[in-house]
Amino acid sequence: MSDTLENLKRELLESVHSAQDLASLDEARVAALGKKGRITAMMKDMGSLSPEERKTRGQAMNAIKQAVTDAIDARKDELGKAALQARLEQERIDVSLPVRPQPKGRIHPLSQVVDEVIEIFGAMGFEVAEGPDIEDDWHNFEALNFPPDHPARQEHDTFYMPDRTDGSKMVLRTHTSPVQIRHMLENKPPIRAICPGRTFRSDHDATHSPMFHQVEGLVVGKDIHMGHLKGCLIDFCRTFFGVDDLPVRFRPSYFPFTEPSAEVDIGCSRKGGGLTIGHGDDWLEILGSGMVHPNVLKAGGIDPAEYQGFAFGMGIERIAMLKYGIPDLRPFYDSDVRWLGHYGFRPEDIPSTAAR
Ligand code: DAH
Repeated sequence: MSDTLENLKRELLESVHSAQDLASLDEARVAALGKKGRITAMMKDMGSLSPEERKTRGQAMNAIKQAVTDAIDARKDELGKAALQARLEQERIDVSLPVRPQPKGRIHPLSQVVDEVIEIFGAMGFEVAEGPDIEDDWHNFEALNFPPDHPARQEHDTFYMPDRTDGSKMVLRTHTSPVQIRHMLENKPPIRAICPGRTFRSDHDATHSPMFHQVEGLVVGKDIHMGHLKGCLIDFCRTFFGVDDLPVRFRPSYFPFTEPSAEVDIGCSRKGGGLTIGHGDDWLEILGSGMVHPNVLKAGGIDPAEYQGFAFGMGIERIAMLKYGIPDLRPFYDSDVRWLGHYGFRPEDIPSTAAR
């Protein structure tokens, strides 16, 4: 290759190598290979050469063109890497910075208590059943052995909905007991089910809310008797309140859907204005229970001559207030994060109730 060509090559490569950024690299490319670039111009000039010279010159020019193109590609690569490196240096993450505090949600006491109840009865083999909040009169009252003009209907302070087109009366369910009927109609004995859910009564003060929660329980089998009812509910009360020797009392009572019926009280002390569960001479009513009335079994499609059962029902808010010392019912539904911060539960702090 002639000196001139050697010089040209050296000059062009130098301009490529010395480019400090992509813009000047492009300038070097245009100056060498662009339409008016030096290589392009020299290629054009070859017309005047003899065929022999044109061949050697052509080969030499192509070699230079290739070398310059390769050098541009390599330099482009280098500049790209350098730019990335510079960004990485500049934008380095400081892993020693403390984490920004993030407010954490709490579990509402009602959700927590429902979970505890499900866990305890779940360990005894109960399944969870559900029914609708808007119920017909038949499931809410009649199938539960409340005759049409029964005085106990008035005690429920029922919210009535508009009648259905077929004339059936609809109510906001006043208790979770109608789920018993639905569950019996859908399942064959043996039955062990609890039904937690919303209930509604027209009542509002520090211990009553028009919307509240209950959990219902139903056991049906061939040899179920009062002893099973007592054993099951004593076990539940002791596990739920975490007091192994908690006194539990069964007091005769009346519900249309059970016979005999019993209210369940637990031992407590009210000395000094406070309330201590488990120790002392006082009693606290906690739930209603009884042996399922034959008429109720019949309404559920179960033959009372073959099967017997027991049932129970309790208020979730009530047992939550007693267990966790919550004095007023109304803030349960106010969604005040200060109240939740105080009475709510951190997910990481929740102990397993049934495992205790
Ligand atoms: N349904 C009753 C109420 O709302 C509670 C209840 C009592 C449910 C006794 C039962 C039961 O299943 O056997 O007051």
